[in-house]
Amino acid sequence: MRAMTHLVNMGSSIDSRNFTRVGCVGAGVMGHSWATLFAVKGYQVALQDISEDNLERAMGWIKTALDLMAEKTVIQLSEVKPALSRIHPTTDLGEAVGEADFVLESVYEDYGAKRDIFRDMDAHAPEDAILATGSSWLLITEIQKATGRPERCVGAHGFNPPISCPWWR
Ligand SMILES: NC(=O)c1ccc[n+]([C@@H]2O[C@H](COP(=O)([O-])OP(=O)(O)OC[C@H]3O[C@@H](n4cnc5c(N)ncnc54)[C@H](O)[C@@H]3O)[C@@H](O)[C@H]2O)c1
Repeated sequence: MRAMTHLVNMGSSIDSRNFTRVGCVGAGVMGHSWATLFAVKGYQVALQDISEDNLERAMGWIKTALDLMAEKTVIQLSEVKPALSRIHPTTDLGEAVGEADFVLESVYEDYGAKRDIFRDMDAHAPEDAILATGSSWLLITEIQKATGRPERCVGAHGFNPPISCPWWR
């Protein structure tokens, strides 16, 4: 929640309404862990990737991460199932971002791919949603050109794995 407030505070044109729904695009190394983090923090998460196999793999990683967090007392054991139930896997980008307040893209590092995805995210996400990229080194100022809302696009690069970042706690 603090991290989301931080993101919201980054731009004066971005309001501070309550965020409840997050769309995570890409369910690989970073995407599954971002989804885990948001779910642990109480957000409804739609996790999107290009295949059911990738989503099944990601949900397995998420379950393993949650179990480990409970074992290490980072979260309570009773929090594991509710967190898991807040993550909804889908291969449909429109479904993943259609009701999202915040969308975080975690696909491979390539301007063309990220611009294509930002174009689709822009087309399907609510007009006031924030669109973020977890890119390590690509410029958000270049990626946001694919959208009609550059003022609502942000870079949100995280440590790997995002769920371990101490400043989220
Ligand atoms: N791995 C790291 O340590 C790390 C750390 C910080 C930031 N990043 C950044 O995070 C981003 C993702 O990196 P990663 O390591 O998670 O990559 P990854 O290869 O593990 O995962 C990428 C996922 O995106 C999916 N994907 C590809 N095309 C897609 C599409 N059109 N729609 C939806 N999903 C699609 C792939 O199937 C895959 O599951 C990159 O921009 C990278 O620079 C990575």
